Amino acid sequence: MADVKVNLSDLVNWTPRQQVAWMSMLENKFTLYGGARFGGKSYWLRWALISWLILQGMRGHKHVQVGLFCKTYAELEDRHIPKFTQMPEWLGTFSDSQVYGLSFRLSEQYGGCLLYTSPSPRDS
Ligand SMILES: Nc1ncnc2c1ncn2[C@@H]1O[C@H](COP(=O)(O)OP(=O)(O)O)[C@@H](O)[C@H]1O
Ligand SMILES: [Mg+2]
Repeated sequence: MADVKVNLSDLVNWTPRQQVAWMSMLENKFTLYGGARFGGKSYWLRWALISWLILQGMRGHKHVQVGLFCKTYAELEDRHIPKFTQMPEWLGTFSDSQVYGLSFRLSEQYGGCLLYTSPSPRDS
């Protein structure tokens, strides 16, 4: 199949507030992002981490790992798991790895970085 170039900003399609949070994440050690329900916090968290991992891959830092955590597995399942299962196939694979638990691994062409989540259903 022919390669299709995807622009990262088209992929994430940040809202203005998400864009501010993304810039803050790049410039600061800590970013606090609050707001009303459905404001886009969970979406931002997923895509900001994935975007950051893609940036690491572009800089030659392969297999970098990040964690995305919720207090309980139920919250993780509610906010994130279904979304990870709908990620574009070319971007990476979501699986329940024996070593890392539920995790999303970027394709090698994007650095093979890993986003892992916790707690795993095995631990709850
Ligand atoms: N930039 C965006 N582009 C497209 N859809 C978005 C964007 N930001 C949020 N959404 C969608 O809006 C809905 C609410 O976002 P969500 O992240 O769950 O909000 P919150 O965590 O603040 O309650 C979800 O369906 C999410 O996929
Ligand atoms: Mg949320």
